[in-house]
Amino acid sequence: MSRTRKSWVSGLVFDSIALIFFIVSSAVVIGSVIHLYLRRFPCRGSLLSGFIIKKGFCDVFDGDWVFDDSYPLYNSSKCPFAERGFNCLANGRKDSGYLKLRWKPRHCDLPKFSPHNVLESVRGKRVVFVGDSMSRTQWESLICMLMSGVGDPGNVYEVNGSEITKTVRFLGVRFERYNLSVEFFRSVFLVRQGSPPKHGPRRVRAILELDKVDEISSKWVDSDILVFNSGHWWTRSKLFHVGRHFQAGGRLKLGMPINAAFRMALHTWASWVEKIVDTNRTQVFFRTYEPSHWSGSNGKGCNVSKQPSFEDKSEFGKILNDVVTNMRVPVTLLNVTSMGLFRSDAHIGTWNYPSPDLDCSHWCLPGVPDAWNELLFSYLFTNGWRQLGR
Ligand SMILES: *[C@@H]1O[C@H](CO)[C@@H](O)[C@H](O)[C@H]1NC(C)=O
Ligand SMILES: *[C@@H]1O[C@H](CO)[C@@H](O)[C@H](O)[C@H]1NC(C)=O
Ligand SMILES: *[C@@H]1O[C@H](CO)[C@@H](O)[C@H](O)[C@H]1NC(C)=O
Ligand SMILES: *[C@@H]1O[C@H](CO)[C@@H](O)[C@H](O)[C@H]1NC(C)=O
Ligand SMILES: *[C@@H]1O[C@H](CO)[C@@H](O)[C@H](O)[C@H]1NC(C)=O
Ligand SMILES: *[C@@H]1O[C@H](CO)[C@@H](O)[C@H](O)[C@H]1NC(C)=O
Repeated sequence: MSRTRKSWVSGLVFDSIALIFFIVSSAVVIGSVIHLYLRRFPCRGSLLSGFIIKKGFCDVFDGDWVFDDSYPLYNSSKCPFAERGFNCLANGRKDSGYLKLRWKPRHCDLPKFSPHNVLESVRGKRVVFVGDSMSRTQWESLICMLMSGVGDPGNVYEVNGSEITKTVRFLGVRFERYNLSVEFFRSVFLVRQGSPPKHGPRRVRAILELDKVDEISSKWVDSDILVFNSGHWWTRSKLFHVGRHFQAGGRLKLGMPINAAFRMALHTWASWVEKIVDTNRTQVFFRTYEPSHWSGSNGKGCNVSKQPSFEDKSEFGKILNDVVTNMRVPVTLLNVTSMGLFRSDAHIGTWNYPSPDLDCSHWCLPGVPDAWNELLFSYLFTNGWRQLGR
């Protein structure tokens, strides 16, 4: 600094101006290139953004559940789209502490979910959830979170008048006044299910075509926000024990381990996103595995330990992360696994409906899935969580 000033004073003005001009122009050019890159690839820029905008960036998945008396965000009994099976209070749950917890990232605060602001921001848009029953829960949660902000609940309806059931393949709720659709497509594996080959082994009663994306996938495009999940059906009991086996390239893959099949299905999904989805329009998210808390082999109770417990499914998060980081288009992971590990208190347990079967996988509504939606919309409101830091 002092040297620059000296040269100004000492009369070597022209050289200095030329040099300064050169430095400033280079900085502007490099800055613009990086800026454009980050705008085009908001997620892939994480390395760069960590370097440049480190101050504002926040790892929203690293945090704690804190008490907040302003929660829950809605009352399921007043929301016609919350299925009775998830409404623990209506099914006899008496304690309410589990309703009063808010997810708090360690290094920042999420903006408070304002139904009014979110509804305005998604006016005219199409929000689509694809996956298993966990996706359906998130879909119901979002609708109920938004319904608490609409003045005219009569103008919110399911487009086909369908009842919300476990097996329905499509559910779509319109918020008429906001020209908004919030939809759910059931696709538990994301890839295609088919009939067994004619001359295959007798134990093969159904196949999962790992190299073909689900045939209803064409309905997922032309959306503005697209949220996927998969994981809970990739188990021996939902695959091999019911005679469902893998196929790829038209051939049965009888010895293929589940993790390898999950990875192949994700690659199929990833190429589909790259080829078919216009990521200039559609923000794509993938939610990681939601932990369950079954206790031991007798399955007699939910494991109410408050410590995070790591289970065999943890490999799925790593596989998902590998696939998504190598994609050519931006896809954002909603990494909800570790935040769910703490919430052994928030499962349905015996407050189930219609059958009182114990359920240590699904979550009560209101509850944990509301936090997934808070994360989803905080992403959209803070330029990919970049503007959260202090
Ligand atoms: C939710 O709404 C129902 C029906 O209006 C009401 O009976 C219940 O007390 C409400 N629950 C809470 C926690 O406010
Ligand atoms: C509703 O949104 C769609 C886009 O999703 C748009 O094409 C249409 O014009 C909108 N309708 C009204 C009445 O605003
Ligand atoms: C539900 O509605 C959608 C869109 O309005 C339509 O394409 C579909 O065929 C309907 N499905 C059923 C099962 O009624
Ligand atoms: C997305 O936008 C970029 C830059 O504006 C453009 O080059 C690209 O072709 C667009 N992609 C699609 C699928 O429209
Ligand atoms: C609960 O989980 C912890 C940690 O994984 C384990 O050590 C404990 O045995 C489990 N308790 C029951 C009752 O299964
Ligand atoms: C999810 O977040 C946890 C906690 O921050 C981290 O340990 C884990 O590696 C993350 N998983 C993925 C797939 O990013």
